[in-house]
Amino acid sequence: MRRTIFDFQKMKQDGEKIVMLTAYDYPSALLAERAEIPVLLVGDSAGMVVHGHDTTIPVTVDDMIGHARAVMRGSRSALVVVDMPFLSYGDVPQALQTARRLMQEGGAPAVKLEGGEMVLPAVRALVASGVPVMGHLGLTPQSQHTIGLRVQAKGAEAAGRLIRDAQALEAAGAFGVVLEVVPAELAAHIAGLLTIPVIGIGAGAGCDGQVQVWHDVLGLFEGRPPRHASVFAPIGRQIEDGLKEYAEAVRMGTFPTKSNSSSMDPEILREVLES
Ligand code: KIV
Repeated sequence: MRRTIFDFQKMKQDGEKIVMLTAYDYPSALLAERAEIPVLLVGDSAGMVVHGHDTTIPVTVDDMIGHARAVMRGSRSALVVVDMPFLSYGDVPQALQTARRLMQEGGAPAVKLEGGEMVLPAVRALVASGVPVMGHLGLTPQSQHTIGLRVQAKGAEAAGRLIRDAQALEAAGAFGVVLEVVPAELAAHIAGLLTIPVIGIGAGAGCDGQVQVWHDVLGLFEGRPPRHASVFAPIGRQIEDGLKEYAEAVRMGTFPTKSNSSSMDPEILREVLES
């Protein structure tokens, strides 16, 4: 049975730390299922870590539908949240249309959108229409050209705004909120104020749970992961070594072996060759 937003909220009530991870395709969803990750985010970070863009801005609703479908095929029990991409929820009609497509065409059980005060009308309309909505505050990557990629809400005014936005999202009906790259003390304070789960990424251990990007926790890219991530299994290097071994085996003629191949009846073969 797939987890619901009510199971997600109960985890906070029970004091259980919530584990959330991005997934973008069938194999990542299958592996997350086997690892019993309870919440998956089909993040628009796909634009960067899957498609190789510099930002999440080029990601389209069609892209997200493709990723959502594949993840839903690989995941049986996780609550799956799908990102609404850049400028796909600029006003209420557009937000409803995007959520309709993500849910009907992508099979998304829930959606996430970035922003505070500005998105409240969209959040209210979505929730009233039956769409489970998660908020996303702090370093919102879709606004990186206006807010930068630095720690957010360090000053008193911005911190106050973050608190108000988080409370307003809860009041508007959001079932949870992601806080990205904000001071740990502030995130812990907000987690204490809200009854809905607050999921952090670069927001300290005081949140109700954590979300991380698949490629970061598995060290799939060269170099250090972002500060807010740790590599838990450096499989990027293992994959590279495996691919080199495969290439070498083909070049040396040690692959494929007999056991990788099939053969035919020698009589039939002779007939074919002689004809
Ligand atoms: O797109 C994404 O992966 C996200 C997480 C970083 C929270 O929104």
